[in-house]
Amino acid sequence: METKLPRITTPLPGPEAQKILALDKQFVSPSYTRDYPLVAKRGQGAIVEDVDGNCFLDFASGIAVVSTGHCHPDVVRAIQKQAETLIHMSGTDFYYPLLAQLAEKMARITPGTFPKRVAFGNSGAEAVEAAMKIARYHTKRHRFIAFLGAFHGRTFGALSLTASKAVQRRGFGPLLSGVTHVTYANPYRCPAGHRAPECVCDCVCSEMIERQLFKTAVPPEDVAAIVVEPIQGEGGYVVPPPGFLDGLRRLADKYGILLIFDEVQCGMGRTGKMWACEHFGVVPDILVTAKGIASGLPLGVTVARADLMNWGPGAHASTFGGNPVACAAALETIRLLEEKYIANAARLGEYIMGRIADWPHKHRVVGQVRGRGLMIGIELVKSQETREPNPEARNKVIARAFEQGLLILGCGESTVRLMPPLLIDREQADFAVDVLDRCIAELEH
Ligand SMILES: Cc1ncc(COP(=O)(O)O)c(C=O)c1O
Repeated sequence: METKLPRITTPLPGPEAQKILALDKQFVSPSYTRDYPLVAKRGQGAIVEDVDGNCFLDFASGIAVVSTGHCHPDVVRAIQKQAETLIHMSGTDFYYPLLAQLAEKMARITPGTFPKRVAFGNSGAEAVEAAMKIARYHTKRHRFIAFLGAFHGRTFGALSLTASKAVQRRGFGPLLSGVTHVTYANPYRCPAGHRAPECVCDCVCSEMIERQLFKTAVPPEDVAAIVVEPIQGEGGYVVPPPGFLDGLRRLADKYGILLIFDEVQCGMGRTGKMWACEHFGVVPDILVTAKGIASGLPLGVTVARADLMNWGPGAHASTFGGNPVACAAALETIRLLEEKYIANAARLGEYIMGRIADWPHKHRVVGQVRGRGLMIGIELVKSQETREPNPEARNKVIARAFEQGLLILGCGESTVRLMPPLLIDREQADFAVDVLDRCIAELEH
């Protein structure tokens, strides 16, 4: 698999892929959404080879997980070494160096100079659950404010905060009580109905939350935490206007509410800084992350101000959370991110943005391109005037890109998202942009 670019040699899906698809169809949960029939066999860097020997350029990264690329040799070495030494011990009941060392590292690299404490789980959802539990336990309040379009996971607590797609909640109620969803500040779809190209007003924080919600349905004294993605992921790769997180910080401080940033998707260097919230200069009380932290090993981390984690032994734990092999992968991943890949994400993100910034002028189905670093969204619309979402066009682009060897996924109602491993180079960026350019142009003819 020496190639840096795609190489498709069979019809898709190929014969071996078809066998796995049949098996999968018979036995695997039908709840999984697969946009196209990729059956992966191995991966290296930004390339994934399928079971028929076709090679694809991966601009999906296992949903923003393989931050250092597939099977980075340094990460693989760290995993192998740890697997030969100690695979499991359970940090809940015993000590081992890697757990404390990763906790220290996370406390040091997350925003805020105050003392911190770190809890470990196995996924983004678990990290969110821990944050919710800390917030309730510490504040003795029960309510949460979350945002429409948000995705925080599928366990019951996290699902109660999630408001990304109705199908994710349908049939599972009643969910956790006390969660109120507010419109996310989306400059392209101004919640107050303004048609300015850029939303700069503070309508969500001052108007919707403070003036309306707090005075009517949600007494602020009952709110434990506001939970927000600094850049919304599954909801459409939405970058909020500059004052949004600041406004939430102001409300949190004023009413004794905790501010929780979910950096599961936008964190770990993806946006060209270690944390997306650094683009806005706002510090949360609790930060949760997962996905890209261990280059593919399951790990969720909740970092809180030390004074907030005032719960005692037994209040919260996880058998596998912070498993030694996952910790080793995380420490090596963070080393690589800090050494070169965050800078590469910033550089290549800027390069890709430079190439696609004028697409709303070039392509009439492109409503907006947006993002930071290598977290880039291209929103497709039926009309640039009405901004009506165009999911059919988006789905066609994703399917056509796959046929040409480019793996991408959608998000929101009609956005194509680009979330490649943070090690891609210009040649790979150019290939992806050219394929997308062609696929979008085809739609218009
Ligand atoms: C912002 C955000 N939070 C939480 C989650 C849940 O993570 P997991 O699937 O690891 O539970 C996701 C997953 O997409 C996410 O994007």
